[in-house]
Amino acid sequence: MAREARVICASADLEESGRGVRFEASYRGETAAAFVVRHDGRVHAYLNRCSHIAMELDWQPGVFFDAEGRDLICSTHGAVYSASTGKCLGGPCSGGPLVKLAVAERDGFIVLEDPGNG
Ligand code: FES
Repeated sequence: MAREARVICASADLEESGRGVRFEASYRGETAAAFVVRHDGRVHAYLNRCSHIAMELDWQPGVFFDAEGRDLICSTHGAVYSASTGKCLGGPCSGGPLVKLAVAERDGFIVLEDPGNG
């Protein structure tokens, strides 16, 4: 049986290409740091884990975007990821993507779909 979606935050908490919201997700049976951002009007969530080394990406809590607000960038060595897909765009991620989580926007809230199976 699928688990119910879990509310992460209010829609209003996520500005276009602004600060992300950090949360914890269940991934492969473990609790893992994750985050959600808004980009091109849609919400996208990923594990907060660089594919280069398993470090959290944010420069400061919730700061994931580059200076232009276009791509996600790892604060440790500068790997660059697409905000909409998590695909590695350059740097030490060497083609390795972020782990994408299923999120949706419903009734003014951002929800994590199937939170037990991230
Ligand atoms: S840990 Fe992210 S680029 Fe090295």
